[in-house]
Amino acid sequence: MAASLKDQLDEFLSKLNPGSIFGIDIGAHSIKVCEVSGTPGKFKVEKFGSFVLSEAAIIEDEIQKPSEIVAGLLEAMVRAGIKSKVACIGLYGPNTMTKRLNVPEGTKEEIEDHIMWESEQYITFGADESQISFDIIGDNEGGGKDAIVAAARSDIVDSFSNILADAKIQVKVVDLNVLAISNIFEEVYKDEIDEYSEGTLIIDFGAQSTKIIVFKRGGPIFTKELPIGGSLITEEIQRQMGVSYEEAEDLKTTSDENGNLPQEVLNIINTQIDQQVAEVRKNINFYVTQGSAEKVGHCFITGGNSLLPGLIEKLSTLTGLEVKRLDVFSSIKVDEKKAENGLEQLSAVAAVSIGLAMRKVD
Ligand SMILES: Nc1ncnc2c1ncn2[C@@H]1O[C@H](COP(=O)(O)OP(=O)(O)OP(=O)(O)O)[C@@H](O)[C@H]1O
Ligand SMILES: [Mg+2]
Repeated sequence: MAASLKDQLDEFLSKLNPGSIFGIDIGAHSIKVCEVSGTPGKFKVEKFGSFVLSEAAIIEDEIQKPSEIVAGLLEAMVRAGIKSKVACIGLYGPNTMTKRLNVPEGTKEEIEDHIMWESEQYITFGADESQISFDIIGDNEGGGKDAIVAAARSDIVDSFSNILADAKIQVKVVDLNVLAISNIFEEVYKDEIDEYSEGTLIIDFGAQSTKIIVFKRGGPIFTKELPIGGSLITEEIQRQMGVSYEEAEDLKTTSDENGNLPQEVLNIINTQIDQQVAEVRKNINFYVTQGSAEKVGHCFITGGNSLLPGLIEKLSTLTGLEVKRLDVFSSIKVDEKKAENGLEQLSAVAAVSIGLAMRKVD
């Protein structure tokens, strides 16, 4: 009885919090916003909205059409019914990075000094022009602590913060999308996390980039973004079939009543998947080769481009791993009415924004 009363109270309080943080994922294809209630183990997606951007609104991590992004962000919030003005935003791109570090025991200041000093060697885009933060994720088996360092070049943080300022939203947390994916993976699969900690690959197939995360020993040990994704496939359909960007997107994502795509479109998709999966394979060689010391045993995929027909099978053949969808809603609750295009689509597209929305301010 006591537990259920506490549960009810927790739920009530989490809904009351007027300044609750919502997550913003400004993806290259669409902006997603999300608000969750609850606490770890009991999260529920209360609000979700998205806005599809026009072609080339963002290229890599450069915002080409700022006014469209601001308007799109506000529209996504209206669609979601989000009133909060404090957000956690996720960054990505070549001017962001993560690094797993083993740091010696020490006071908080000593650990921080050590991390800042060591990070300088890894931040290829310049430690002095970057914002750096870190999380201690636990004790290292060989002594000391395990830390995840996250860095983003300051001008990237500024360009995204300026968009939010224009939309009158206060940035409470700046996160990286790859860490949001790692966090949501941990939350969704917390009951099996010991098994997955032995080595799991998580891949976010987006529009302009494909993010690879190797999850091991309680957190990410490797993250990488490849500049490939669904936009390349759309462009190829556009080119080969002589249609507009919007028409090509429609051709790629709209199947007939039997769930099939036109053969001509499928042929283009198949060739493109082969190339993209081969590129992924090349970058994870170390983690999927038989006998490798760091071999992983599982693979989860997410992101809109992961919904392509045939991708799971091809990825599975090339990696030798069983490939599954990162099924956010196997553990996090949602009202099915929010999933216009089904829960599988929502799970793939919304995962990052839900991971960002789960962040609470310390
Ligand atoms: N059902 C579907 N089948 C195939 N492709 C799809 C489907 N739904 C969305 N996509 C594609 O997925 C991509 C969008 O995915 P997602 O929303 O994960 O990208 P994003 O987060 O906006 O981009 P990025 O992560 O690269 O910044 C687009 O290329 C879109 O065409
Ligand atoms: Mg994305």
